[in-house]
This record gives sequence, structure tokens and C-alpha cells, in this order.
Amino acid sequence: MNPRKIIIDTDPGQDDAVAILLALASPELEVVGITAVAGNVPLPLTEKNARIVCELAGRTDIRVFAGAEKPLARPLVTAEHVHGKTGLDGPVLADPTMTLAASHAVDFIVETLRQHPEGEVTLVPIGPLTNVAMALQKAPDIIGRVAEIVLMGGAYFEVGNITPAAEFNIFVDPEAAAIVFRSGIPLTVMSLDVTHKALTTRARVDAFRGMGTETGRMVAAWTDFFERFDKEKYGSEGAPLHDPCTIAYLLRPELFTGRRINVEIETGSELTRGMTVADWWRVTDRSPNAMFMGTIDDDGFFDLLTTRLAVLP
Ligand code: RIB
Ligand code: CA
Repeated sequence: MNPRKIIIDTDPGQDDAVAILLALASPELEVVGITAVAGNVPLPLTEKNARIVCELAGRTDIRVFAGAEKPLARPLVTAEHVHGKTGLDGPVLADPTMTLAASHAVDFIVETLRQHPEGEVTLVPIGPLTNVAMALQKAPDIIGRVAEIVLMGGAYFEVGNITPAAEFNIFVDPEAAAIVFRSGIPLTVMSLDVTHKALTTRARVDAFRGMGTETGRMVAAWTDFFERFDKEKYGSEGAPLHDPCTIAYLLRPELFTGRRINVEIETGSELTRGMTVADWWRVTDRSPNAMFMGTIDDDGFFDLLTTRLAVLP
């Protein structure tokens, strides 16, 4: 079976890094390119971090593109309080030696979708949706060419993690999210309702460290750093591995359950900016536009993660 072609759009971020590593460790997937977006930290850092992660996986062949430095219509909000100043705080990391690809990320997304047959390329955004929305605005002809968008973002039962109402990726660029959610492209949404059930534990982090590889050591150090925020805020035992849930879904969809519902994005109110208004109970006549995930088999998720990451250097 030919590997599924994906573009990962990302704002590394420790959890983004684990998602990228999982994708690069999985032969079922072909990472056609990685596009960086401003989010957890500013763009110069997210694009650098994406290259660091590719080098850690021994994959300097992967093309990394820099994209939007800021949201479509608002100032950038970052999350150093969660990810640290570098965005990959935890271990000490050497600067990357692989170079950044020359084109703009948005042009890469557009050209890749135009060059491949319809339905062959899946977009996996795991940061703010600015790059993806800009690509859809610039080239509406690609809308019918995208196989699926599998994104990390939003929340319903879990409500917000950056404000009482909104999850970070959607909060940073709600206008971009509204464009994506209204595009008509098949959408699968890994919201906080799922990712907050994908928590690291001491045993799970020890399993990473126990791999005895550089990748295992890095992932353990990243999750040790990354879990502080959620432990303090939610009193949870460990860090929610948000972004790898998208890749795990592509590899083993049976680990997840959800509902096909309507999801709209709040862009007008400052109080609830970026809220994903998810019609989970189908109380409106708004047509379903997203497969909104609600549960995860977390043991199965961590088994998959640990088994796959163990093949990396
Ligand atoms: O709210 C969680 C999301 O925001 C994740 O993608 C994390 O990396 C941050 O970008
Ligand atoms: Ca992210």
C-alpha cells in the first residue's frame, strides 16, 4: 500500500515535535513537507525547531518551509509560559545544520496540492491555522483537492486552555480557523476533549527514556518540561500530548471515537474569541462540517507512540 502523503503545518512546541517524530517513524505516512507557522513561539523559532526535530530523526531530506509570522487579522499571541522561550525547552539542543527551503510555506501548500492528484494529500495542521487559511484564500482551486484536514484544535466539554472559552490554536487565529471550518474540506478535529485524555505518566515517560536512544531522551526531557503547565493548572498527573493525536489518528483511527457535527468559530466577541461552538448535542439545524473527536484509547495511543519512536536514532 502506498504511504499516505501528508503536509504537517506546525508551531513546535514540544508536543508538535513528538507528532513530527511519530510521523517520520511511520512508514504508512510520507511527510511531503513541513510548514512552520507562528504560534507557540515566533516564526524564526518554530521553523528552526522543525528543522531540529527533522535532524533528530535523521531526516535532513525533509523540506521545511517558513510561513506566516502573524495571524490574518490580529497581533500574534505566543505561549512561552507553556513551551519555554525556545519553544522546545527541556533538553539542551544544538542549532540545526539543515537549511530552510526557499519557498514560502503557503506557496508550498498550494503547489503541492496542485501537483498531486485530487484527494492524494492530507493536511495536518497542529498550530494556528494561518498558513492553511492563507493557502485556501490564495488558491480556492485547491479546496477540492485536499483529501482531508486532520487538525489539533478546539474544545467543547474541556472549554478553553488559553482563555476560559478557547483552545490556543484556534484562539491565536480565529479568522483563519473560520475559513478552514467553513471550507467544506473533510475535517477531523482532535480537540482538547481528546487530548486531555492523552496524558503522560511517570511510567509512560520512563518508557520513552528507557528506549536508550537520543529520541527517547529528548521526548522524555520535553514531556518533563511541558507537563509543568498542565499539572499546575489542572492538577493532572502529566502532560497532554495534544498534537501527536492527529498522527495517531492517521495510523490507527480505531483508537478514537467522535461525532460528525457542526462546529463554528467565534470571531466577533473578545470575551469568547476563538471558541469552537460545537453542536455536540445537535440542537441547531447547522450542517455538520467536522468529525469532532471525543475519546481516545490512551493505553493504545502510548503503546503506538513508544513502539514507533523506538525505531528512531
Ligand atoms: O492547545 C494545544 C495546542 O496549542 C497544541 O498544538 C500546542 O502545541 C499548542 O500549539
Ligand atoms: Ca502545536
